[in-house]
Amino acid sequence: MRLKDKVALVTGAGSGFGEGIAELFAREGARIVVVDLNADGGRRVAETINAEAPDRAVFVEADVADGSDSARMVRTATDAFGGLDVLVNNAGISHDNKPVLEIGEDEFDRVFAVNVKAIFHAVRHAVPALAARGGGSIINTASTAALRPRPGLAWYNASKGAVVVASKSLAGELAPQNIRVNALCPVLGDTPLAATFMGGDSPERRAQFVATIPLGRMSSAADVAGAALYLASDEAAFITGVALEIDGGRCA
Ligand SMILES: NC(=O)c1ccc[n+]([C@@H]2O[C@H](COP(=O)([O-])OP(=O)(O)OC[C@H]3O[C@@H](n4cnc5c(N)ncnc54)[C@H](O)[C@@H]3O)[C@@H](O)[C@H]2O)c1
Repeated sequence: MRLKDKVALVTGAGSGFGEGIAELFAREGARIVVVDLNADGGRRVAETINAEAPDRAVFVEADVADGSDSARMVRTATDAFGGLDVLVNNAGISHDNKPVLEIGEDEFDRVFAVNVKAIFHAVRHAVPALAARGGGSIINTASTAALRPRPGLAWYNASKGAVVVASKSLAGELAPQNIRVNALCPVLGDTPLAATFMGGDSPERRAQFVATIPLGRMSSAADVAGAALYLASDEAAFITGVALEIDGGRCA
């Protein structure tokens, strides 16, 4: 059990990568605060975890872009489980794949609110809780979009660039409190977001994208969860400020 007695909060845990992370962390002994805006998805994941190990997960319906929701999700970790050791800022969205001049201001604002400002809120609320336990691990889901951006996704790519730089900045600044901060950079993954990135879903579109990934497939929730587990665990005690590519060689 690599996360025995740890408490982890995972945002966007009602689907995709976050679901995989929450379920793997629970199997490795962590207690989980499942956070999602989508109550059906979040509840389903918390129930799946609790069906295997009773009282291991609680669900919080929250919009991570909202400061008071963010405060409430962190409070739930301390109220339900006595503290917080691991924060996974994973919830994310994108505008559709389209030319940059067609991306509206409202789309820009929402992408940056969910992908970037949410981390600002979560850090403000979670750092005191992590420090109170003598340190912890913050994991931010960025993307290969930050490192090897594709056309049609300009402001999504930029938001993930901000996630990588924020992670590296925080790593230096929070190290004295023994809080490690790392970013995950998955390549295109088979989740509901994939169609948004590809500009529609079809066997041809998939083949086109997969052709740019040397290992010849999309990323899976298991790939991302395995990397997150390593960064959350004590095995990564000396790893901070890293943007870990989970990309089958796409950025190599
Ligand atoms: N799928 C990919 O190809 C891919 C590749 C690289 C990075 N990512 C990143 O991985 C993360 C997870 O994406 P995914 O592919 O699993 O997508 P997903 O859509 O399957 O899951 C994202 C979850 O976040 C939730 N969410 C969205 N906005 C929210 C908000 N404001 N507050 C709380 N919850 C919110 C959604 O309800 C959903 O359950 C995102 O940050 C995404 O940008 C995805």
